[in-house]
Amino acid sequence: MLAVNAIDVFYGESRILSRLNLAVAEGQVVCVMGRNGVGKTTLLKTIMGLLPPRRGAIVFEGRDITRLTPYERARLGIGYVPQGREIFPTLSVRENLVLGARRKQPTPESLDYVLSLFPALPQMLGKRGGDLSGGQQQQLAIARALISDPKLLLLDEPTEGIQPSIVQEIAAVLQRIKQEGRRSILLVEQYLEFARSICDRFYVMEKGVVALEGDRAAFRMDEVSAYLSV
Ligand SMILES: Nc1ncnc2c1ncn2[C@@H]1O[C@H](COP(=O)(O)OP(=O)(O)O)[C@@H](O)[C@H]1O
Ligand SMILES: [Mg+2]
Repeated sequence: MLAVNAIDVFYGESRILSRLNLAVAEGQVVCVMGRNGVGKTTLLKTIMGLLPPRRGAIVFEGRDITRLTPYERARLGIGYVPQGREIFPTLSVRENLVLGARRKQPTPESLDYVLSLFPALPQMLGKRGGDLSGGQQQQLAIARALISDPKLLLLDEPTEGIQPSIVQEIAAVLQRIKQEGRRSILLVEQYLEFARSICDRFYVMEKGVVALEGDRAAFRMDEVSAYLSV
């Protein structure tokens, strides 16, 4: 459903991604791993349309979306949870959720759905986003992306800097989404146990290229962690 075809992405004159290929099939969870600075966030931003590739193409459900704006891609069904969450700290939780909806207002069903995924959210609707803990903000950011019912969810390090109990809750939500089978997930993740537990396919990046890829059965902890150690 998603194909990244030989993209080159630059920041100014520095080449960040080089002829990078990646694919996500319908209903799959695909994990991308790699040390800091190898280009994982750059990859997700390029898929979302926040950075233009200099060469190559992004194809979503058979359609070349390389020239579409982020807004147009969101409307086609791509949801994005950026690294560091980027929720609106002075707005309420409810307002943060409403801003995620592609329609002016989320439908009652979509609101009920995301509130059912995150049992702690309903009591927080009136709180300011900035008053939530880091883990709660991450859950809010995921809920905000899900409220517009994306077919593909891009998640950039959702467990980064989050307490273990909330990591487990986030893992359970992603497992549930996977079981529902209605969306695909492209997950950038440094927490290898988590990545292995959920992925159907994985990629390990090194400095702008794919160094290792395979199906879940080929995910060997020692081999993957060797790429991540400095
Ligand atoms: N806004 C930017 N301007 C210039 N260089 C950047 C910018 N953002 C990231 N980079 C550089 O691009 C490279 C890849 O960054 P990034 O995609 O954030 O890596 P990762 O997410 O894997 O840690 C790094 O060398 C980083 O310093
Ligand atoms: Mg990053």
